[in-house]
Formats: sequence, C-alpha cells, structure tokens
Amino acid sequence: MKRFSKGTVLLGIITALLPFFFIGQAHAEETDPIYEKVKENGVLVVGLSADYAPYEFRANVDGKNEIVGIDISIAQKIADDLGVDLKIEELGFDALLGALKTGKIDVVISGMAATDERRKEVNFTDTYMEVQQTVLVRAEDADRFQSTADFDGVAVGAQRQTTQEELANTELTGSTVTSLQRVPDLITNLKSRKIDAIVMEGPVAEAYVTANDTLALAENVTFENGVKETAIAISKEAPVLLEKLNSSIETIISNDLLSQYKEDAFRLMFTEEGTIDEEQSFWEKYLPFYITGTGYTIFLALVGVLFGSIGGSLLAFMKLSKSKALKVIAAVYIEYVRGTPLLVQIFIVYFGTGVLGLELSKLAAGCIALALNSAAYVAEIIRAGINAVNKGQLEAARSLGMNQIQAMRFIIFPQAIKNILPALGNEFVTVIKESSVVSVIGVSELIFQTGVVQGASFKPFLPYVIVSLIYFVLTFALSRLLGVAERRMKTSD
Ligand code: ARG
Repeated sequence: MKRFSKGTVLLGIITALLPFFFIGQAHAEETDPIYEKVKENGVLVVGLSADYAPYEFRANVDGKNEIVGIDISIAQKIADDLGVDLKIEELGFDALLGALKTGKIDVVISGMAATDERRKEVNFTDTYMEVQQTVLVRAEDADRFQSTADFDGVAVGAQRQTTQEELANTELTGSTVTSLQRVPDLITNLKSRKIDAIVMEGPVAEAYVTANDTLALAENVTFENGVKETAIAISKEAPVLLEKLNSSIETIISNDLLSQYKEDAFRLMFTEEGTIDEEQSFWEKYLPFYITGTGYTIFLALVGVLFGSIGGSLLAFMKLSKSKALKVIAAVYIEYVRGTPLLVQIFIVYFGTGVLGLELSKLAAGCIALALNSAAYVAEIIRAGINAVNKGQLEAARSLGMNQIQAMRFIIFPQAIKNILPALGNEFVTVIKESSVVSVIGVSELIFQTGVVQGASFKPFLPYVIVSLIYFVLTFALSRLLGVAERRMKTSD
C-alpha cells in the first residue's frame, strides 16, 4: 500500500505550503495598517510639541507664522520620500504617545529620546541625533553649580514626562524637581527664581542662552546617563512604515542633510527672517495670534454654553421628573461631571472617541467636552431656579385646574427664568475661562496661542499678562452686559 516514501510526502507538503509562506512574507513586507492609511489619505500626520527650538518652534516664514525646525525638515523629507503631504499636529509633549497609540497621529517627531520605557509602548526608528543633556541656570549662578552634587536642596525644573525629568530625579538626587508641561513655563520659573535650574536638552538650552543673556549653561555639570538618542516614535503595528522611515533617515544621515536642517533652524531662530526680529514690534508680530485665539475662545464658549444649556435643561427635567430611573441617571451624571476635573474630561472625550473609532477633530472634541461639562452645571442652575419658586405657586396653579405641565409652563417657569438667566450668564463667564483647558489637546484658543507666542518670542512672561487682559476684557464686558439685561428684567416685573 505504501506508494510514497516519508521523504516524498514531506517534500510534497513543503512544496504545497511554500507559496503560502511567500505570500505571507510578501504581504508583511508590502504594507501595514498605518502605512496603508497614510498612503490612502495621502498625508502623514506628525505629532509634536512646538516648544523646542531648534527641533520644533514657531517662526515667521515669509510673513507667516509657521512651525519650523530640524524635526520639521526631517518630517518633510520623509513625507516627500513617501510621496504624501505633511500634516503637523501640535500637542503637549506629554500627550504625544497617547495620541500615537490611539491613532490620532501617525508618528511622533518631537526631539523624543528612544528609551526602554517608551519602547514597551511604541517602536522607534534608527537614531537621527545623539544629544547631550545639560543644565540651564541664571547667568549669575553659572559658577555656583559645578557638579551634580551641587544641586542638594535646589529647586530644579524639567519638562513633564521627558528624559530630562527622569535625569533630574535620578541624578540630581538631592534636588526637588518641578515638572511642567511646557518649556517656556520652565524658563519663566527660572527667570523669576521659582526654580534655580532646568535640566534641558543641549541644543534647546543653547538656543535659550543665545536668546537671553540672563541665562547660562552650568558647563561643568555632566550626567552619567546624559547622552540620549533621538528618534521617531511609531506604532508597533507599522513595521513597513518603520522600514520606510529608516531608509529616509539613512539618506538624511549619509548625505549629511542634518547639518543643512540645523543651519536652516538656526537661521530662522536668530535672524530677521525668523523669530528674533527686533524691527517689528511685539504687537505687530503677535497680535494676529491673539486675535485668532480670541475667536476660538469665544466660539468654544458659545458652543459650550449653547449645547450645555440644552443638555442641562434636559438633565434638570430628568431630575425633576417622577421617574426614578431618569432621576438617578441625571443625578449620577451631574455628580460625576462636577466631581472630576475638566482636564480629564477633555482627554476622555478626545482620546476616548478615538478608541471608539470616531474621528473627532480637536475643536469638535473641545466643544463637546465643554458642553458635556457645562450641562451638569446648567442642570443644577435650572433645578435650583425652579425649586426657588414658592411651592404654593404650584399648588395654586393646580387648584385653578391646570395640569402639571401647564402649571410649569405658565406659572413656575416664567418666575424661575428670572433666577436662572443671571446664573446662566455667570456660567457663560465661567466657560470662557474654563475653555482655556482645551489648549491641552491643541485647540488654537487663547492659551494655546499664548504658548505659541511664548515659544516664538522667547518671552515667557509678557504673553501671559496680555492674555489675562484679553480674558478680563471678555468676561468683564460680558458681565456688564448681563447686568444690564438683569436690570431690564427687574423693571419688567
Ligand atoms: N528628549 C526629551 C525626551 O525624549 C524631551 C523632548 C521634548 N520635546 C519637545 N518637543 N518638547 O523626553
């Protein structure tokens, strides 16, 4: 019966399976979901935090303010090599990896070091730069710090969730570390003596020293693990795109394009062409940012309050209704929203919708988060307004033969509205201010623009003063307006 030898059978099986092996192979080499998406949309979405000259920062290019820097040149080269357009998404540095993992961005090119910690979450390309970490101090203190031991009891700053933060914690052990989200805020803290040193990436620290003669490097301080390898972060599900990025990096390095990129970045930082152009006044240069920012802030607040009021009315009626279930749902929602920080809610809406597969823009996510948040407060305003109307009114209305709805509609509500409207106006004022939190996901409102101006002007303090004045004008004007409306209503009594 034995017609084939074992060897022949084995050979047969292998030959039969061979094509599948190659198909699998060829398939794996050709594409991956992220690469597919990039190709299909024709855009590579690069996430970064543009507070990091010379890597990524704002500068005037032909009269227009743009994000430029070494990383942008690299990103552009990669996009060109892939044959797609480049889109930059600006986020806080600490939000980048989250955005990458939830698919909001395709890659992170943000002066990011390839650390073992991060490798657990994402992949990294080959290194495109090796950088030394340094300590930035006030010029008058430059001699005070000679080694890492001199930081005992010293207040040291670092950008949140960076390798610098880690270095400060592990190597400047005697120090107290303050972690902030944005580099310009660190600089303000240093200049105003809230902190005495900042652990900073070498090239970035040098940029600040060049632009500020009150700052200096603590030249003799060296870190044990002070050399970091900068690379591009990418999802683990993108092996093919990773290969493509690596080959672009390879070309960049072998043709020494990097020195060109650096030169371009420095030119934009330090000549009339770029940011530190003293000819143009601060106002001329940065007013447009504040105008755009104000527009976004007003839009966010309007949409937030409008939809917040709709949602809030709904919640209030749920809470006042006879149904136990509706009551409980509304109560839980209101308590939950009022009991958690808006910041967290914004992240949940922005990233959460991504996890659910909804492609929400930053602005849409910001509006929704504000509206959801405001709804909880508006609900309480309305409920309190209605409850404040004397109980006897309802009884009187009912005894006149009105049903519950009629009584509400004709007797209770017209009185309640007089309590509700002023409080609603205050809610509007609150939302204008709260909308500032939406800057964390990169919506171009006032605080975000302030950050841009800080980064571009290397002036950390003045932009805050200006933005505070703008907020004040907005809220003050609004409360005056509301005051007038309130008085009108009183006279109509
Ligand atoms: N190299 C540091 C890190 O990987 C900090 C990078 C910060 N980048 C930025 N664009 N702010 O942790």
